[in-house]
Amino acid sequence: QANEKESMYLVSEFAQKYFQHTLLESEEGKAIGLSYFKERGFTSDTIKKFGLGYSPESWDAFTKEALGKGYKLEFLDKTGLSIVKEDKQFDRFKGRVMFPIQSMSGRVLGFGGRILTNDKKAAKYLNSPESDIYHKSKVLYGIFHAKQAMAKLNNCYLVEGYTDVIQMNQSGIENVVSSSGTALTADQIRLINRLTPNVTVLFDGDAAGLRASIRGIDLILEAGMNVKVCSFPDGDDPDSFARKNNQESLLAYFEENSKDFIQFKASLLMQDAKNDPIKKADLIRDMVVSISKIPDRIKREVYIQECSRIMDISEDVLFNTLAQLVKKDL
Ligand code: CTP
Ligand code: MN
Ligand code: MN
Ligand code: MN
Ligand code: MN
Repeated sequence: QANEKESMYLVSEFAQKYFQHTLLESEEGKAIGLSYFKERGFTSDTIKKFGLGYSPESWDAFTKEALGKGYKLEFLDKTGLSIVKEDKQFDRFKGRVMFPIQSMSGRVLGFGGRILTNDKKAAKYLNSPESDIYHKSKVLYGIFHAKQAMAKLNNCYLVEGYTDVIQMNQSGIENVVSSSGTALTADQIRLINRLTPNVTVLFDGDAAGLRASIRGIDLILEAGMNVKVCSFPDGDDPDSFARKNNQESLLAYFEENSKDFIQFKASLLMQDAKNDPIKKADLIRDMVVSISKIPDRIKREVYIQECSRIMDISEDVLFNTLAQLVKKDL
């Protein structure tokens, strides 16, 4: 079992080197993949730091190369790098730019592969399947490069995607990780909490995602961590925003626009409720549920006072609702 996992790590490492070599040295890789990354503003140093690559437009170029080098089909199959059907085998990633996903200690666990067009019908990213070495819910993209800065600066920026992590690193901000487009899990939160209790969530500037993603944040509160949120002008995500701003103005923007999560959520919910009393009642309960997740009693009480002010409702009502929720938990 331990040997099997090691074989999976080794073939993944080989794949990362193969994809990077194809990106930097082959005519196809340079013309298609490298020019794509350059167009996105990634420097050569950034491409090397994150081990980015290109998988050629071919049915089986990678698989053949790996088999030729003595890597076993079994592990190409188990890592999902190749798709094995009866007596045939194919590359999973074809004509995509490749983002290796690394563990805390820097080992390659899997890949995200992006198509180069903006074709809305095709899935933009194709990711490695779950495997014995890649558990999507336990990994944070960027953690290998972020861990030192997270501990030193005692803060972590949480972003949606691969390119957000990369572009912020290129702007000199290393304490940034991504849950790769899905809601944060308890395992990922534990990973962050080992390094710092302070999280700043950076939302994409598309309002649709915002209301969905604030749901996951209760889990961070439950871990007793401190959560701030910061959003961007409409249409921007951390990647596009970091491209237009240097480190100094980025940090100034975060400083100025980060809001305490509870206050942020309270204001957001109030906008939603407007003058609808029934909706408002629901939202107030929703708000108190978030507050009830906070383990520290004093913090809970301070937040109740804040919410009472923001949502214009008496502290008594909020405290009673909170008391019911906390009791139910015991
Ligand atoms: N994602 C995914 N599969 C998709 C779409 C998104 O796995 N079909 C994940 C990726 O990890 C992606 C993240 O969700 O990085 C955020 O999605 P999105 O904001 O749509 O992509 P960006 O990271 O902004 O990618 P890009 O800038 O390349 O469009
Ligand atoms: Mn580093
Ligand atoms: Mn998004
Ligand atoms: Mn995005
Ligand atoms: Mn983007």
